[in-house]
Amino acid sequence: MDVVETTVELAGRTLTIEHPPDAVELIDEAAFEREEFLPYWAELWPSGVALAQVIAARPSRGEAVLELGCGLALPSIVAALGGARVLATDWSPDALVFARRNAERNGAELETALVAWADAGELAQRGPWQLVLAADVLYERRNVDPLLSLLPRLGSEALLADPGRPALPAFLAGARTRWHVTETPTAELPRGGVFRLLSRQYA
Ligand SMILES: C[S@@+](CC[C@H](N)C(=O)[O-])C[C@H]1O[C@@H](n2cnc3c(N)ncnc32)[C@H](O)[C@@H]1O
Repeated sequence: MDVVETTVELAGRTLTIEHPPDAVELIDEAAFEREEFLPYWAELWPSGVALAQVIAARPSRGEAVLELGCGLALPSIVAALGGARVLATDWSPDALVFARRNAERNGAELETALVAWADAGELAQRGPWQLVLAADVLYERRNVDPLLSLLPRLGSEALLADPGRPALPAFLAGARTRWHVTETPTAELPRGGVFRLLSRQYA
């Protein structure tokens, strides 16, 4: 597979992220038939960059951190470089190959696991995590309910970055029934932001 490198400047550090040059070229018949094969993982989305910026600005040393739908795993890599113990997950095996490769090339240590949100029982049993991360995971309306039911099983704090996808209001409305939700606006996401979900127990 051809790869290109994107450079990201974060908190005084230069990170390089390797990824396929054109995600669209990875689409094949199997991808159309089975949604998990669509290569959304192959791009470094602005939400991933925004979430990584927020992680870089907060202490994470020693924290147990989980990323859902990690794709190329920039937020996980930044958390690991900050001293967190990180598990990066995605339902695409190819994403996890790139997540591991990108961690290694940036000197970060992280664990990866193949996890689909609808089948995350084992993942929930491994928890709780002190911080759960997710960037640009609401691009389909059908992702809202599985994520709303999964997140409380994983921990008591989550950071979700979203560019303002149409499903974001439905997700936030559901999240507010259970979590205390605050927003960090970011220049990367002018129509969205990074949302912090904190269990009402700690809010
Ligand atoms: C738009 S991409 C965002 C990738 C990365 N977080 C970023 O911001 O650059 C969405 C990611 O979620 C993953 N994903 C989508 N649906 C999923 C599901 N049901 N279970 C696990 N991962 C899923 C995709 O494989 C993809 O890596």
